[in-house]
Amino acid sequence: MSSAADRVAELRALIQRHDDLYYVRDAPEIADDAYDALLHELRSLEEENPELVTLDSPTQRVGGAPIDGFPTVEHAAPMLSLDSDKDPDALRRFDDRLTKLLDHPPTYVLEPKLDGLSIELVYEDGVLIRAATRGNGRQGEGVTENVRTISSVPLRLRSDRRPVPPFLSVRGEIILRVAAFEALNEGLLAEGKSPFANPRNAAAGSLRQLDPRLTASRPLDIYLYDILSAPGLELPSQEEVHRALADWGLKPNELVETASSVEEVLAYHQRLGEQRDDLPYEIDGIVIKLNDLAAREELGTTSRFPRWAFAFKYPPRREVTRILDIVPSVGRTGVVTPVALMRPVEIGGVTVARATLHNREEVERKGVRKGDLIRIQRAGDVIPQVVEWVEEPGRVREEPFRMPEECPSCGTPLIERGPFTVCPNALDCPAQLVGRLVHLASRDALDIEGLGEESARLFVDRGLVTHLPDLFDLNAETLLELEGFAEISVNNLLAAIEKASHAELPRFLYGLGIPEVGVKVSRDLARAFGTFEALRCAEDEALMAVPGVGPRMTEQIRSFFAQENNIELLDRLLDGRVTLIESEAQSAEVAPPSGPLAGVRIVFTGGLPTLSRRDAKELAEAAGALVVGSVSRNTDLVVAGEDAGSKLDKAEALGIPVIDEVEFLHRLETSGLSPSNG
Ligand code: IVH
Repeated sequence: MSSAADRVAELRALIQRHDDLYYVRDAPEIADDAYDALLHELRSLEEENPELVTLDSPTQRVGGAPIDGFPTVEHAAPMLSLDSDKDPDALRRFDDRLTKLLDHPPTYVLEPKLDGLSIELVYEDGVLIRAATRGNGRQGEGVTENVRTISSVPLRLRSDRRPVPPFLSVRGEIILRVAAFEALNEGLLAEGKSPFANPRNAAAGSLRQLDPRLTASRPLDIYLYDILSAPGLELPSQEEVHRALADWGLKPNELVETASSVEEVLAYHQRLGEQRDDLPYEIDGIVIKLNDLAAREELGTTSRFPRWAFAFKYPPRREVTRILDIVPSVGRTGVVTPVALMRPVEIGGVTVARATLHNREEVERKGVRKGDLIRIQRAGDVIPQVVEWVEEPGRVREEPFRMPEECPSCGTPLIERGPFTVCPNALDCPAQLVGRLVHLASRDALDIEGLGEESARLFVDRGLVTHLPDLFDLNAETLLELEGFAEISVNNLLAAIEKASHAELPRFLYGLGIPEVGVKVSRDLARAFGTFEALRCAEDEALMAVPGVGPRMTEQIRSFFAQENNIELLDRLLDGRVTLIESEAQSAEVAPPSGPLAGVRIVFTGGLPTLSRRDAKELAEAAGALVVGSVSRNTDLVVAGEDAGSKLDKAEALGIPVIDEVEFLHRLETSGLSPSNG
């Protein structure tokens, strides 16, 4: 028993270390499958020894049963809000005030103002015991179970670099990265649900789920920036607060800097403002904090704000404009999307004139019509979104938008699929072909520079491209006849197409536009199968073994490759037009295991006479076995050496075959062993 407890402790420490490296430090040291193996071993050990399960075990992240509501909890210290302004003069006044009040020029710590959800985390003896939203600043909602599901929130603090205070309450921001937000919305729309307006709402909505399993499915992240309470802990500065947080495994933001003049603050504000569109998360300003914590004490707070901090905000990325028209637009999959054409308006430095309204239900939900005044916003560098209709009392409105009955591009009668309206003419609809061309040429696919929407439409309208593969048959002569195409642009485009005709498998896969198969899945599929042929012929089981591929995607992939027109399309593409750069499958999980120990779940215990544990494991794996750390009913074989302890006892109790090293080596050489006769 004690050895199980030891191993559990060892595994938790290992997993905690790798969580910290992966989620907090962004410097992973082991591959995903090695990490999964650790977690798996811990999980089975805990299943076998339920008395060893503790609150801070990494297995306890993924939520338990749904709850009825969130309890109200008192914060360890008030969670104040910040004085804020967009005006640089207000910032100068803040700095002047501090310079006057203090007897030395202030130094500041500068942090991005993350547009997320403020949260308090409470650790007792290093273990996370409570998490609460800001609420009214004194009391918030206890969302502990949900916060536990966030991978970058340590369930136990590290204490190897700095002692952990017995009580520690910290404050930070929970965010959802822009990419995750977009993926979430895509999924919601595919289910006919209403998308979230921005990453912040999505983060808040995800955190306030009564079912923690739903929260767990959303990749929330956290940055910590403040210590609310830690009796007995004396730190001199905000810089040291950040260092302490990092030492404990609580991730501070990576863009934090210091400044000792207003000019430096302004420069930071400008620099971050320029990066704003490229940051993976939303920020709405910067926060300037007095570095010296003793001086902070002296300055104190007003009823709402600390006097020692200030939020210097960016202009909002919401604007009001008028909808000039709502037009149906046919995409590459045939889905007809209502698009709002708007009076052009600048939001955060970018002029926008179009915004998708997603589908007819969404138009109804938003209640917007042609001619209406609307509020729109831009998040990250995502396409702008219509937030809401701005009422104008007394104005006579146009009729509500109605989907056409026929495809605006090819005239085929449209059909309804859930909330979506679809043009079923996948083969000949010009608008769909334009969409597919643009997708194939996009940056993550074949990356054909110079082939955008405009030229794609031109090629299709002029009949130069009637099917995707025709793209690779374009020549200078015909292109030069098109308006807007001079010799240089023609040569550049043809060179780009030629370059794209030697395509890496993942890019090609993504470029095909198989429904639901995005960039990441394309990469995983390519890695798992190695060659296009292997993927094309893959059975359901092999597809589902690829991480991130579920039954729905499997169905989409299989049906894509089964369709007559796609078979023809691929044959033409791969018949000399496109040469694929392929590699052999790299993932052992996906290729069905082969070798004399194929599929055998094996456990080593005790010291083997000649083999090191590492060599034994390597040999077993090379023979197709799955090496696991603990004995359970699922174990097929135990190899026991000297001083084998509880694992051996357990194997014997469960009637699992036990062999020694000699027999193990012997079996490696003989074929025919299988889990059933082993
Ligand atoms: S400091 C007393 N730092 O902005 C210190 N706040 O009203 C108060 N926020 O509700 C907060 N990033 O949720 C601080 N680096 C940062 C922040 C930050 C975002 C949020 C916080 C707060 C709001 C300000």
